[in-house]
Amino acid sequence: MSFKIKDISSKLDIPASTIRYWQEKFSEFIQPKRTNGGQRRYSNNDLRVLANIKGLVYGQKKTIAEAKKIIKAEISGSKSMDWSDKTILLTGGTGSFGKHFCRIMLEKYNPKAIRIYSRDELKQHNMRFDFNDDDRLRFFIGDVRDGERLHRAMAGVDVVVHAAALKQVPACEYNPFEAVKTNVHGAQNVIDAAIDTGVKKVVALSTDKAVNPVNLYGATKLCSDKLFVQGNAYVGSKKTMFSCVRYGNVIGSRGSVVPLFMKQKPSGVLTVTDKRMTRFWITLDQAVELVLKAFKYMEGGEIFVPRIPSMKITDLARAIGPECEIKSIGIRPGEKLHESLTGEDEGRNTLIYKDMYVIMPSFPWWNRKNYSEAKELPENFIYASDTNDQWLSVEELRQIIFGDKPSERQTKKPELNAVNE
Ligand SMILES: NC(=O)c1ccc[n+]([C@@H]2O[C@H](COP(=O)([O-])OP(=O)(O)OC[C@H]3O[C@@H](n4cnc5c(N)ncnc54)[C@H](OP(=O)(O)O)[C@@H]3O)[C@@H](O)[C@H]2O)c1
Repeated sequence: MSFKIKDISSKLDIPASTIRYWQEKFSEFIQPKRTNGGQRRYSNNDLRVLANIKGLVYGQKKTIAEAKKIIKAEISGSKSMDWSDKTILLTGGTGSFGKHFCRIMLEKYNPKAIRIYSRDELKQHNMRFDFNDDDRLRFFIGDVRDGERLHRAMAGVDVVVHAAALKQVPACEYNPFEAVKTNVHGAQNVIDAAIDTGVKKVVALSTDKAVNPVNLYGATKLCSDKLFVQGNAYVGSKKTMFSCVRYGNVIGSRGSVVPLFMKQKPSGVLTVTDKRMTRFWITLDQAVELVLKAFKYMEGGEIFVPRIPSMKITDLARAIGPECEIKSIGIRPGEKLHESLTGEDEGRNTLIYKDMYVIMPSFPWWNRKNYSEAKELPENFIYASDTNDQWLSVEELRQIIFGDKPSERQTKKPELNAVNE
């Protein structure tokens, strides 16, 4: 989508003369195309940069030089790769992770194109609309079970993010063949197509449920992790690299415990399955950041795990309904008391960084060149939610959920933006 200067002027409420002035001063970031008649046509990215400048110059009273420095740092500072010439294929692009990933990529990293690959046309239609018809987004209807379609969709693609999955534990339990087809056969199809079409890097999304799985969803994701790690051994003379990122629940999402507690709150009773339960807490921002880090460091075969805080389920209940009674209703089939993000047998291959763990593969040819400085962990190391060294207090949980002052909490609904497993 492109905009005339008068559209930008009315959208941002800035005079056209100021837009022209900023365009001149920030010429490396704002690059409108010219029509045959010489008129400027601004892209979505130009619009975003101009909005950013407005916030910095008018809102934060920065000078032009300061604003320039900040924008430059935003674009290049945290950038793990040069995305401007990269075409990305994102399976499951219409899901919670996928949409958030697109938003961050388009706003901060300006990739050449992101191909959304998923089945449902309505979700794609809505996403196209929500993203203001951004011309860097391309929509491909396709199923990861369909290898032929994936081959076609990956032609000319540089990197793949594999987020498509069936991920509701009960749905996978009751439809096991379907879970295997999407999560296992789908993973194999992604690997095959990526190698055959010469994709350079593939990052697949995994879950804590893949560690010592107790339900079919976790078992299919463990299988998928193994396929992606071992996929590196299938590349032969090609250059494709495969890695995984693994994180816990994006809590506060549809079908998860936060909306449940919010619904139960007026009754004065909040139900938990077991009062001893602990969970990791990750935000979608952190999940996207982890994927970008994986692309930056990956040599192929690693599983990247973020170091994130834990919370006690009873603290979460207290944060949402301090006046409520907390009632135990018994642990559900397939539910764990605590979550782990690394397994017992992975400890000996795990490296620790300030903000993440890296589980290395056990390939004989693995040379660890990007990780030569990292500290190793003891053989029996497990990263579990009950033995974590970072915890969220009741007050911190309140702030994350309500993001406001205590007096406003009674009326305000939490901001929820993800679908929970
Ligand atoms: N949410 C969490 O708490 C969490 C935690 C850890 C890991 N993860 C992992 O993160 C990934 C993304 O999760 P999410 O929360 O974004 O999931 P989501 O919101 O349920 O989105 C799933 C996406 O996958 C697509 N999809 C499903 N089956 C497909 C198929 N057969 N072929 C192509 N596309 C398909 C869906 O679109 P269509 O239905 O239109 O095809 C949708 O775009 C998953 O791999 C999940 O295992 C999630």
